[in-house]
Amino acid sequence: MAAALDERARAILRANDRGGYTVPTGRLYPFQWNWDSAFAALGFATFDRDRAWRELETLFAGQWDDGMVPHIVFHQLDPDYFPGPDVWGTDADPPTSGHSQPPVAATVVRRLVETGGSDDIARANRLFPRMLAWHAWWHRYRDPDETGLVGIIHPWESGRDNCPDWDAAMARIAVPDTPGAYRRRDTDVADAETRPDAITYDRYLAIVAFGRQCGWDHEKVTRDGPFLMADPCVQFVLMRADRDLMALAERFGDDPARRRIADWIARDGEGAQALWSDTAGGFVARDLRTGTLSPALSSASMLAFYGGAGTAEQRAETLRQAAEIVEAVRYAFPSWDPRHEAFEQRRYWRGPVWSVMNWMIARGLAAHGHDDLARRVRRDTLAMVGQSGFFEYFDPLTGEGLGGPDFTWTAAVHLDLSRERGPTATDRERSTDGIDHAAQGGKMVRRATGDQGRRP
Ligand code: GLC
Repeated sequence: MAAALDERARAILRANDRGGYTVPTGRLYPFQWNWDSAFAALGFATFDRDRAWRELETLFAGQWDDGMVPHIVFHQLDPDYFPGPDVWGTDADPPTSGHSQPPVAATVVRRLVETGGSDDIARANRLFPRMLAWHAWWHRYRDPDETGLVGIIHPWESGRDNCPDWDAAMARIAVPDTPGAYRRRDTDVADAETRPDAITYDRYLAIVAFGRQCGWDHEKVTRDGPFLMADPCVQFVLMRADRDLMALAERFGDDPARRRIADWIARDGEGAQALWSDTAGGFVARDLRTGTLSPALSSASMLAFYGGAGTAEQRAETLRQAAEIVEAVRYAFPSWDPRHEAFEQRRYWRGPVWSVMNWMIARGLAAHGHDDLARRVRRDTLAMVGQSGFFEYFDPLTGEGLGGPDFTWTAAVHLDLSRERGPTATDRERSTDGIDHAAQGGKMVRRATGDQGRRP
């Protein structure tokens, strides 16, 4: 059973391969998405390391001159997708969207280096300046006042498109007089009940219009755009990735890079404090225009462990909340707090479980020694796939698969988790997640790599 699922997961990655990049799923998302690709690389790495690297290299081929790695690279046009390159109007070559997505790549690259050999090191070395430029872009353009807290200019930049975190800020966005003068394509291929509603979609496009009209000048979009929030997902993913980039800089003996990254790391923990909510009992999103904090926890709140954020008390409180939340569902970890009124078990980021979030949550928990909860999250991730197949996301109460089928990142995470299934998985994670262990990484993880490690 497990071996058959693994084989199916590999077949999905191969089928979604468009030659150097992977589409998230055939019809719904026909291009290369940023953090999807980082996870795709993680999955490919379990059986085809060259292909894993090509995924990342192709993603970075879409990098802008200012360092940004866009959230979508439109390698080839597809009239079935909206909003396409003409709506974004970025003038990029290859055509891309106009903002970014959670920077997972450096974390995956570090993993490839520490589980690989000389070819992995050489390819990581080549990619390093590009990753550094991307992180620098986040710190410069999304945190222009150097507070240590980065913003996002569009809910799509968070990767958690319609999470209730964005509701209040989105409600303030004025929409043009002719909303709906476009035709969405996502609801042609997925159940409308599980997708963002119409007014939300109009507002998404209003932010895109602002970016297009100012020529995607990111200083301007951050300072004056219709939307600026800090997202615990992006903040914690960046914090984790900064540390992973630092480990790479140390390995490559790149002192100037080390100094820059050390500056970012010194600031970001402090910056994250602005996301703490006593009311919610965890780190939540913050509207950077109004200072308002989100009313409840999301799965991104649980990434505090992964990002290494918070005091011991804050993490203990987060853990208490996490225990209550997982008690309220059958499958961890719901994207929105099921105790809160905005929870919807089937609608996208308003309740459903996403494998990639679980992968990061479990890693963070394990790194902090919370093995039971980490195991529960990993087990549930594998169980939902076993029950329903490789769907885009899952109902946390029933495990039903929702959204697109045969989804790349669900397959990729499955491969990585199923490779790590076994008594020593947690120890491995703990030893590779601490920045202090960077120097020993190469030797310690090599034994955990590849198909040999997989259990039947
Ligand atoms: C949706 C998700 C986003 C993902 C994309 C492609 O927009 O919210 O996180 O990157 O689909 O899978």
